Amino acid sequence: MKKIHPVVFPARLETGLQSYLAAYPGDKIFVLTDENTRKYCLPRISNLISNSSRIIQVKSGEKNKSSDTIIYIWEFLRKQGADRKSLLINLGGGIICDLGAFVASTFKRGIPYLNIPTTLLSMVDAAIGGKTGFNFGGLKNEIGTYCLPQTVIIYPPFIGSLDREQLYSGFAEIMKHALIGDAGLWKKIINRRKELSVPFLFSLIRESIEVKMKIVSSDFHEKGIRKSLNFGHTFGHAIESFCAGKGINMPHGYAVAYGMIYESWLAKKLHRLNERSFLEIKECVIRHFGHFQIERKWYGPLYDLMLHDKKNDNNKLKISLINKIGACDININTTKTDIYDTLAAFYKKK
Ligand SMILES: NC(=O)c1ccc[n+]([C@@H]2O[C@H](COP(=O)([O-])OP(=O)(O)OC[C@H]3O[C@@H](n4cnc5c(N)ncnc54)[C@H](O)[C@@H]3O)[C@@H](O)[C@H]2O)c1
Ligand SMILES: [Zn+2]
Repeated sequence: MKKIHPVVFPARLETGLQSYLAAYPGDKIFVLTDENTRKYCLPRISNLISNSSRIIQVKSGEKNKSSDTIIYIWEFLRKQGADRKSLLINLGGGIICDLGAFVASTFKRGIPYLNIPTTLLSMVDAAIGGKTGFNFGGLKNEIGTYCLPQTVIIYPPFIGSLDREQLYSGFAEIMKHALIGDAGLWKKIINRRKELSVPFLFSLIRESIEVKMKIVSSDFHEKGIRKSLNFGHTFGHAIESFCAGKGINMPHGYAVAYGMIYESWLAKKLHRLNERSFLEIKECVIRHFGHFQIERKWYGPLYDLMLHDKKNDNNKLKISLINKIGACDININTTKTDIYDTLAAFYKKK
């Protein structure tokens, strides 16, 4: 299978990057950062970038994944004389990669860009596969394009400065990749009885990326199998948005982790997944992420959020469900009763 874009794992970041930078004069190189990646990650590449290269710094946080930030970056590039021979390097987590890739895909009808993801989640997920975008009108990733990077450079030591919550958020997407596409990776994950550690997470990155690369390389525009990457996300996105509205801290990966319990139960209810696999998934999520209790009065709002998910057509809830560990089906029709039953299956009286 032809890969849609290269992903490289240089032993030294310098050597990995040098060959790409050599093709561009210093003043044509732009590096997009936020305040954290400027502090923790930029120093690792600054000796490779000439004084005439420009650093663009935007504010971190999902609320800044906005049209205002996009306009700020466009303006910066325009004022600094960027043109189609310029290179944009996205040095950051999923937000920087999504924003920078969108800018690169639209500025002067497209300039080349590199992703250097610096969070676990962006290494295994957001930086891979050429989806770009920003939030608009209160909706996540409402505006976006498909546009491939020149390459994605994976340098795992960057995750050393992430906090626990960010590490676990990325780990949830690794679990998802294992569940939809790699039973061997899942074995490694469930055999880990101890708390996650950075070296253990390092050891999962490459296989996790391979699952995503294989899927996006065969269905770039998400007409079919790429939808399997939404496993855990129908319930997960609803939980994430609902909690955001209530001011409850719920990082994306945690919501997806809980979403995977619910959706595995639903797959079992629909006779698509066996009981043993469901129990294994549930135990593994709870071991790492703890419990999350959903109250009965939340069922309606959660269901509405699922229906509003833009991936659903004509008020029909179609969902991606695994049928065994390592394989996923897409476009499974579900009913309101299925969703309520699933939520109720985990209801515990206090
Ligand atoms: N395009 C896609 O296919 C795709 C897939 C999955 C997720 N996403 C998007 O990715 C975003 C989430 O990405 P994320 O989880 O990486 O969050 P993020 O980009 O917000 O990064 C999390 C936090 O970590 C900080 N940070 C980044 N690297 C650091 C480092 N090495 N050391 C210390 N701090 C660091 C950031 O400044 C930020 O505060 C969401 O907006 C989501 O929609 C996109
Ligand atoms: Zn996700």
